[in-house]
Amino acid sequence: MSGSSAGGGQVVVNRSMSLDGFIAGPGDTMGWVHDYLTADTFPEVMAATGAMLVGRRTHEVARQMAAEDTDYDGGPVFVLTHRPPDEPVAGVTFLSCDLAEAVATARAAAGGKNLEVLGADLASQCLRQGLVDEVLVYVLPVLLGDGVRFSTPGLGRIELEPVSRQQSGAVTLLRFRVPAARPAG
Ligand SMILES: NC(=O)c1ccc[n+]([C@@H]2O[C@H](COP(=O)([O-])OP(=O)(O)OC[C@H]3O[C@@H](n4cnc5c(N)ncnc54)[C@H](OP(=O)(O)O)[C@@H]3O)[C@@H](O)[C@H]2O)c1
Repeated sequence: MSGSSAGGGQVVVNRSMSLDGFIAGPGDTMGWVHDYLTADTFPEVMAATGAMLVGRRTHEVARQMAAEDTDYDGGPVFVLTHRPPDEPVAGVTFLSCDLAEAVATARAAAGGKNLEVLGADLASQCLRQGLVDEVLVYVLPVLLGDGVRFSTPGLGRIELEPVSRQQSGAVTLLRFRVPAARPAG
């Protein structure tokens, strides 16, 4: 069930993307994002966000990033993984459950605001299962040539409804609604 159909905040796949369709460069490099984008570029996005559901790889890469590159405060962070660490990580709740249950758990923590879903693998699964209301993409004016693609292979075709387009400096923010009632699988 998507967020809008259940009431409350939306479930939003949120990512920065190079013009050639990558969300991370080779070796998971992310510095190119911060050359263009900060939490202040579109402050309304962070303000509308109440929680984040993150794939374990995204969590690991974020931990390696400098503190000034991770100033985004989207509320409580939930990390989905098949193998939660033995030691707790401050500010992070690890989940090892069914995907829909993970989305529902993180969304309940968003306090009526949006839930952001981060990670190509995780987001692709959520899109495939019809758990996403909106796709929000920051298009950055750079070609990376290689890296982590926007979607994982096998996601298939999903029609999106354009909602809005905004510009801030060199960054274009595109929003798309994901139509409901897509078959899972
Ligand atoms: N440009 C942007 O805005 C943006 C945003 C987010 C991320 N990124 C980048 O994207 C890259 C990471 O994306 P990714 O697609 O490689 O990985 P990801 O989606 O972040 O994480 C994948 C991992 O999440 C866990 N997972 C996924 N689905 C699961 C499920 N149904 N049940 C349990 N665990 C599940 C698995 O971890 P285990 O192996 O531990 O089970 C899996 O290996 C990083 O480079 C990151 O920096 C970019």
